[in-house]
Formats: sequence, structure tokens, C-alpha cells
Amino acid sequence: MPSIADSLVLPCGAVLPNRLAKAAMTEGLADPQGRATAELARLYGLWADGGAGLLITGNVQIDRDHLERPGNVIIQGPQDEAALTGLSAMARAGTRAGGHIWMQISHAGRQTQVTVNPHPKAPSAVPVGLPGKQFGMPEALTEDEIFDLIERFGYVAEVAQQTGFTGVQIHAAHGYLLSQFLSPRSNLRTDQYGGTLENRARMLMAVVARVRAGVGAEFPIGVKLNSADFQKGGFAFEDSVIVAGWLQAAGVDLLEISGGSYEQPAMMDIQGMEAPDAPPQKASTAAREAYFVDFAKTMRASLTMPLLVTGGFRTRRAMNTALETGGADVIGLGRPLCVDVAGPAKLLAGADELDRWESKLKLLPPWLSFLGGLKMMRAVEGFAVTYWYYAQIDALARTGKAHIGISPFAALLNIQKAGKAWLKARKG
Ligand SMILES: Cc1cc2nc3c(=O)[nH]c(=O)nc-3n(C[C@H](O)[C@H](O)[C@H](O)COP(=O)(O)O)c2cc1C
Repeated sequence: MPSIADSLVLPCGAVLPNRLAKAAMTEGLADPQGRATAELARLYGLWADGGAGLLITGNVQIDRDHLERPGNVIIQGPQDEAALTGLSAMARAGTRAGGHIWMQISHAGRQTQVTVNPHPKAPSAVPVGLPGKQFGMPEALTEDEIFDLIERFGYVAEVAQQTGFTGVQIHAAHGYLLSQFLSPRSNLRTDQYGGTLENRARMLMAVVARVRAGVGAEFPIGVKLNSADFQKGGFAFEDSVIVAGWLQAAGVDLLEISGGSYEQPAMMDIQGMEAPDAPPQKASTAAREAYFVDFAKTMRASLTMPLLVTGGFRTRRAMNTALETGGADVIGLGRPLCVDVAGPAKLLAGADELDRWESKLKLLPPWLSFLGGLKMMRAVEGFAVTYWYYAQIDALARTGKAHIGISPFAALLNIQKAGKAWLKARKG
């Protein structure tokens, strides 16, 4: 029976030294040209020494006008010497303890912040359904533009391989572009990229094929996929199981199961941020560790491809149980590693659990959540807490230490200010 300390041989032949992965977390640390900086190398060195067998980078963008956030690493077109050196340093640091570092490759589509692009490209002109005017009105991609983006995913994977990353992960979850194509709510196209599930998955499958053609048979390719969008009429679990089967047939080495989007952030179990028509979450689901493990178990019944499951894991027991019962082959860890970079090493040495900062950082008393009118306040709180994690990553990269004393609202203001300065420097 596998445990977190066991290695895993992937279908391509690569070996993960253990079953713990640092999940992708956006860093916001690239320079205004989108090049990887010394801070990124320092950060990935810390995480490499922290013991996870696999580090997945924060989303690296294939298009400078479609960022998830200011400060994303961007790979678009031929890379200059400084960009290649920065990426190589990041990859070297991430592998210095013998583990893997995979580059997560993404395009934000309609979830591009309005400050980056007021009219981002997306499958269809369907805006993100959230209040606050954070996202603009998207424009539908043409077929030629889709073809170009497929090429660009492939090109970025080739750059990752050339600069020393030991694998790539294609981001098809959380409501970003490839996930927008999968969902009938955001994809209203009537051409070969819309309508049936096969059509909605066509871009993702073409990206996987293009990436495989570029990196060869022995280089690991992962995909992060939603188990579901958790929205009425969205990408449903039944769809996800079918797409997972296609990804397995296409030779994907590791499928990461997550869920949700900005409209319904199930991946982090943030309450108050759901779209108005989202089904209410059951208290038992919200309180439970390992948000997606039951989905993964059901998927496992029809799949042999290794599964990485991320979201909510905090105790060694739950991790080992998921591995033993076929709920996961690799466990993804996110928020705890923003503070405790050595969390994986501690678990491997027998520690029982990781800190649950997400529950310690609640700012408003729980009884307020019963008042419907204060849902918005909860959303702001959830938003600020996410920025608290951004601030931890930023502090780790710049100083080598987390900065847990900062309040979530101060973190929100600081990071947003830095983001504005980054965008201004980019334009200048
Ligand atoms: C600060 C932060 C940044 C994140 N950035 C990304 C990202 O760039 N790509 C991605 O796929 N998921 C991202 N996520 C989601 C995580 O990969 C993960 O799915 C989520 O945090 C749930 O895992 P956890 O409960 O262990 O934190 C991010 C999460 C956090 C907290």
C-alpha cells in the first residue's frame, strides 16, 4: 500500500521521489517584462529543500495581455538571454534537492483582470458573473487565434524543457481559458470548439497533442482539470470523467483534480464568493478535509493514469488514507506551504498535520454568515485572505521567511499597490 514517502513511476518513465506535491501558486514575482527573477529562484530553492517530490510553479502565461495577475511569468515569442537565464535559475533551484519542478502553463481568458485588459479573448463574449467590475467584457476568439494559442502552449512547454524544468502542467481548471472552453456556461460557440463535450474539449486535447509533439515521449505532462465547476449548467462531473479518459488516452502522465472558478471558488472552499446561482455547499463538505478525494475515487474506477488530488489536505492520516484507498496517487499541498516551506519534510518525518491558516485567518465572527446581507463582506474577507497568502509567498521570496504578522487587509493593499506599480513599469 503506497504511503506519502513512496516514489511513483509516471507513464512517461519519470520518477517522483515521493507522493507530496507543492500545488501551483501564483507568485507575482516576475519583472515587468514577465521574466523570472532571482526572487523566484530563491523561493523555489526553499520549496525544493522543503521535501516535496514535485513542485508545480504558479501559472506561467502564454500571452502578456491575458495575465491572471500582474507579476506573472510570461513566455511569449523568442525569449531574451535574461529571460532564459531567469528560467534556468528557477529550474535549477527547484530541482536542487532531487525533486521535480513542473511549469504550469496557462492563459487567463475572461478571468484576466480589467486593469490588464478590458476586453480579453475568451471562447465567447460571456463575462465573469461577479460584481465589482474586476473583469471586462470578453471577445470571442477566432479559429485562427485558437490555433495560434495551441501553438503557443506547445512553444512554452518547449522553453520549459530547454531551460531545465522537468515537466509541465497544462492549466485546464479554475475557470481559466481551457476551462472556459470546457464549460457550456462560458462556451456558447457553434463551431468545432463549442457545443458537444468533444467540441468543448477540442482545444485542450489539441494543446496536449501539441505539447507532447514538442517535448517528446519521456517528458512528463500533467493537466489540472476541474472535477466540476459546481455551477448549474457548467462543466459537470460526468463530463470531467469522460475528458479524463481522453487525457489518459492522449498520454497524460499526471491528472490533477481540483474544482471551481472565480465565480465559485470550490478549490479553496472560500465562502461568500459564489455566484448568485451556485448551489449551496453542504456544511459537511465545507468542513471536510480533502475536498476532491471522493471525485478522484470515482474517477479512479475508470482510469489507470496517476491522479494528483489537491485541496484541503492537512493531516498525514488523510493523505495516506487517500493514497491507500485509491483516492489519489499524489497529494497536492497549497496554502500550508506559503508559511511552512518544510511542511512536506515534516510530514515525511512523521509530523501529524500542517497548520490550517485558512481557518485561523477568519476575520468576521461566524454568526455573521447567517445574515444574508453580509455575504459580500464574507467575500471581501475571502479575497483578503487569499492576498495574505500572496504576501507570505512574496515575503518568502524576498527575505527567506514568511510574514504571518501582516493582516489580510494590509496584505491586500500592499499586493494591489505592487501590482499597479508593475503594470505602470510595464507600460513605461
Ligand atoms: C496563494 C495561492 C495562489 C494560487 N495560485 C494558483 C495557480 O497559479 N494555479 C493553480 O492552478 N492554482 C492556484 N492556486 C490553487 C492551489 O493550487 C490549490 O488548488 C488550492 O490552494 C487548494 O489547495 P490547499 O487547500 O492545499 O491550499 C492558488 C492558491 C493559493 C492559496
